[in-house]
Amino acid sequence: MDGKIIIFDTTLRDGEQSPGASLNMMEKLEIARQLAVLGVDVIEAGFPITSPGDFEAVKAVAKAVKGPVICGLSRAVEKDIDAAYGALKYAVRPRVHIVLATSKIHMKYKLKKAEDEILKLAVSSVKYAKAKCSDIEFSLEDASRTERGFLYEVVESVIDAGATTVNIADTVGYILPFEFADVIKGVKDNVPNIAKCVISVHCHNDLGLGVSNSLAAVLSGARQVECTINGLGERAGNASLEEIVMGIKTRSDAFKGITTGINTKELYKTSRLVSKLTGMVVQPNKAIIGSNAFSHESGIHQDGVLKERTTYEIMRPQDVGFEETRLVLGKHSGRHAFAERLRKLGFGLTKEQIEKAFERFKKLADKKKEIFDEDLETIVLEEIARIPEKFHLAHFYIASGDQVKPTASIKLKYNNKILEATSSGDGPVDACYKAVDKITGAAGKLLDYQIRSVTSGKDALGEVSVKISSKGNIVSGRGASTDIIEASIKAYVNAANKLVYKCHNS
Ligand code: KIV
Ligand code: ZN
Repeated sequence: MDGKIIIFDTTLRDGEQSPGASLNMMEKLEIARQLAVLGVDVIEAGFPITSPGDFEAVKAVAKAVKGPVICGLSRAVEKDIDAAYGALKYAVRPRVHIVLATSKIHMKYKLKKAEDEILKLAVSSVKYAKAKCSDIEFSLEDASRTERGFLYEVVESVIDAGATTVNIADTVGYILPFEFADVIKGVKDNVPNIAKCVISVHCHNDLGLGVSNSLAAVLSGARQVECTINGLGERAGNASLEEIVMGIKTRSDAFKGITTGINTKELYKTSRLVSKLTGMVVQPNKAIIGSNAFSHESGIHQDGVLKERTTYEIMRPQDVGFEETRLVLGKHSGRHAFAERLRKLGFGLTKEQIEKAFERFKKLADKKKEIFDEDLETIVLEEIARIPEKFHLAHFYIASGDQVKPTASIKLKYNNKILEATSSGDGPVDACYKAVDKITGAAGKLLDYQIRSVTSGKDALGEVSVKISSKGNIVSGRGASTDIIEASIKAYVNAANKLVYKCHNS
């Protein structure tokens, strides 16, 4: 059996279904480019029928990102398939991904269809898509709760109809590893034409078993694994790409002859990019890429690692891209060194973007003596991957203390005009946000506010991520500054701009 595992990344589709993780087109493109650098085999870029924005984003990824197969999701209906292929046809290697539920509970309550109708629909939708695109994936939604006999029948029929990959989904994260291994073995043993297609698995994490189930399936013969960066996804998320990849690599003794094409040194960078752009902060104790994943706190452990690293470390931090933070540039660094460093960090910026980022860098260098790669990444991501912003922070003033009511005065630039408002609040950030609401008119409910320092030191950049909801839309925003009030306002204004953009583009 060929031991190469196809890594199918669905961060931009299932991952984006995490509440509040919505990404705009530029952000999706930036992530897709990095996924290609990471070496994923398939990028699921979105679900084109769901909105014009998603259609355009899938089309943009299909046009711009070379290397991986570019995939788009579709229900088993013609108009979905048309939309998916309409967006994907620009890719060198497009894949249409059709999903249809096959469990009794989904067929009866959600689809209100009998088994024979589902079977017909599965076959006709695959045939319809196959006439447009040679690479067709068919997903049996809720496969893990599907009657075995029916599961085998659907798999056999869609392969006959032209499916090249069949995906067995544990949609609700219900199954246990030994049971899932048995399902995959059952598919291999009972579907006569199974050798004509790749068996894929797609595991959710509701019981915290997404990765374990995926790895059990690999040992049983699955050769495609669907996963997301940082384990993002519906509800408790999907199986995490970095955990699956490092599980296979680190335990090569158990996964004999099994490999992935992932450049694991890009894992940490990819994780950080996804976290910044989605506003979904990674927990410090997250396996593989959490900030504590390689920290040793206890004296006994530190002593052991100093004597022999492998006493307490099963992986080397460098293998997943954790590197010593390096001092790269300072106040006197010029444009050329700056542009060169960005190129080395993997950012392909236009001249105009470099110029803007350089201005930010110079301002930062006035406040902060030492500039690290993390600082550069943070300011660059403020200049790229952003939707056109209507409002920009021009000035702010706050009065606060334990004896005064916090008050903020904010000036925002809008179409070359300066708009101003003043407000008081429970604290300085609340006062600022109320003043911003008065100006933008895009007041939303603040769902989440997080602050973290980008590097260490008292003069470190503070990075704020916020999530706000308004009229059914949830958007995230981020901002960075050495002043945390300024970072807070920038994050909020960034989110407000996204709300304004959504209202005008949906
Ligand atoms: O969870 C699920 O069943 C899915 C399908 C589209 C594979 O996301
Ligand atoms: Zn899913």
